[in-house]
Amino acid sequence: MTVSISPISDALGAEANGVDLTRPLTQAEQDVLQQAVVENLVLVIRNQHLNPEQYLASVRLFGDTMPQHLTEMLMKDHPEIAVLDSRNAGADADGTVYTTGSRDWHTDHTNHAKPPKFTALYAITLPKSGGGDTGFANMRKAFDNLPPSRQAELSALQTINKIEDKAYVSAADKKKFGVLQSHPLIRTHPETGRKAIYIHPGKVAKIEGMSEEDSKGFVDNLMDQIIQPDVTYRHKWRIGDFVIWDNRAVVHLAHRDYDPTEGRVMQRVLVQGEAPR
Ligand code: SIN
Repeated sequence: MTVSISPISDALGAEANGVDLTRPLTQAEQDVLQQAVVENLVLVIRNQHLNPEQYLASVRLFGDTMPQHLTEMLMKDHPEIAVLDSRNAGADADGTVYTTGSRDWHTDHTNHAKPPKFTALYAITLPKSGGGDTGFANMRKAFDNLPPSRQAELSALQTINKIEDKAYVSAADKKKFGVLQSHPLIRTHPETGRKAIYIHPGKVAKIEGMSEEDSKGFVDNLMDQIIQPDVTYRHKWRIGDFVIWDNRAVVHLAHRDYDPTEGRVMQRVLVQGEAPR
């Protein structure tokens, strides 16, 4: 088996060809895949046929798995895997219906002191009428696009991160994962040394030193400024796609342009990261 890596967009992302994750990979092949995700930020491996054990073993090629909230969605025999099933939609107290996967750009689990470095999604079922793509945006490129004065301004800021106060997060998870965490808005990647914008707007309680109201306006304005076509890629899923991305320099969103009752099922695993610096 020869593994080759080819880019999938100008913004970010690469596809690995010649990979069957049910078979043992040589150390050299593992190195190629690990390097590909850090360099390209999103790595797509198509046409995989993985049971939960094989899926977990594949994710562990990239590091140790870590706990995730949304306890109700965790697979019983494999709690490292969250099953994001669009048919399990619920509603908040105000009646707002939610579907799994945020429709807003974000990096994952910033309510942790050591948030996940990678997230993996494995496509099990897709809506038969289409839709349900995942968007990815390159926060390394977005930072590089900013003028030096804006880069310096952002580099001085820390976000204070909370768990969302939503019905889909249980009271037990709010207690367990709800400690406020301070993270730099601009983080330096521990492996590449490159700077990137690091943010989960839905989890930002505030920017340190700003009121909550000012923080919200600041973050909304920042997202409008940085999410531009030249930094984004939209992944059109096929069943059997194994996709892993580097949360330290990527934000993503789930497009909600499909009928959730048709079923969109993704298995999600998080890979333990380090404290952002
Ligand atoms: C997520 O936001 O974690 C999931 C993204 C998706 O389902 O496309």
